[in-house]
Amino acid sequence: MRNLNIGFIGGGNMAEALIAGLTAAGHASGQVRVTDISQGRLDALQQQYGIGVSPDVAGLAAASDVLLLAVKPQQIGPVLQELGALAGDKTVISIAAGISTAYITGKLGDGVAVVRVMPNTPCLVGEGMSVLYSSAEPVHRERAEYVLAASGQTAWVDDEQLMHAVTAVSGSGPAYFFLLAELMQAAGQSLGLPRDLSEKLVGQTALGAARMLTESGKSAELLRQQVTSPGGTTQAALEAMFEGQLPETVRNALSAAAKRSRELA
Ligand SMILES: NC(=O)c1ccc[n+]([C@@H]2O[C@H](COP(=O)([O-])OP(=O)(O)OC[C@H]3O[C@@H](n4cnc5c(N)ncnc54)[C@H](OP(=O)(O)O)[C@@H]3O)[C@@H](O)[C@H]2O)c1
Repeated sequence: MRNLNIGFIGGGNMAEALIAGLTAAGHASGQVRVTDISQGRLDALQQQYGIGVSPDVAGLAAASDVLLLAVKPQQIGPVLQELGALAGDKTVISIAAGISTAYITGKLGDGVAVVRVMPNTPCLVGEGMSVLYSSAEPVHRERAEYVLAASGQTAWVDDEQLMHAVTAVSGSGPAYFFLLAELMQAAGQSLGLPRDLSEKLVGQTALGAARMLTESGKSAELLRQQVTSPGGTTQAALEAMFEGQLPETVRNALSAAAKRSRELA
């Protein structure tokens, strides 16, 4: 895998997160290239990560074994048009939300190996959750796994339709936790805590809870029960959350995200 030439089309936020992960994991920066319509962006990425830059999509494609489509969904059409027919045994990885593998093979040709991925923004700190789907040969799936695993955890689905649910849970998910953090920080302040302290308490509590959730082997439900003594402070808070219909609100919120994902597709 270390010999792969990996080309990014679009050098925005998600591309940078994945480039940072790959180079930090030891992939040679000379074997990573990027093209973007902004020269300033290319200069910044080249300077920061020592990677190669390409002035156009065709040049990048010719030099790459793996092509990563990292433009906005509405920019995918023109990019695929520019790519045209691909020579060789390349792997095309798309992280564009809502763009199906059939749409991409429809533009690039049925023989092209496509892997669709839904990453999330914690890729920026190497703690991403990327969910992958592909019906391509194992070699292409392994290449995609290698690229995404450099920025966090990976999981595979074998039904592309599940990408809507994935988008609702992990794609959009960081925003739900950020909202809860905002609300807890504000509530802490209204209970008299200085802003800095309230932010620190919430951030570290989130980090600690996330580590317990992912490292203890215990379910979220059990961990919640273990902090909740009968008649205690946590129970008082949780009762207020249940009375405020939090479970129903969360179910509705994720359904709305999945519905919007289907509409955008
Ligand atoms: N951010 C997330 O949480 C998240 C999560 C999952 C999936 N995604 C997906 O990741 C993809 C990238 O998102 P992002 O937030 O990184 O977007 P972004 O920051 O806007 O990055 C896209 C970059 O591609 C450039 N570009 C546009 N057209 C191009 C072309 N024809 N050739 C080369 N470069 C071109 C853009 O330039 P301009 O800015 O000048 O247009 C921009 O620098 C999206 O498809 C999104 O659905 C994002």
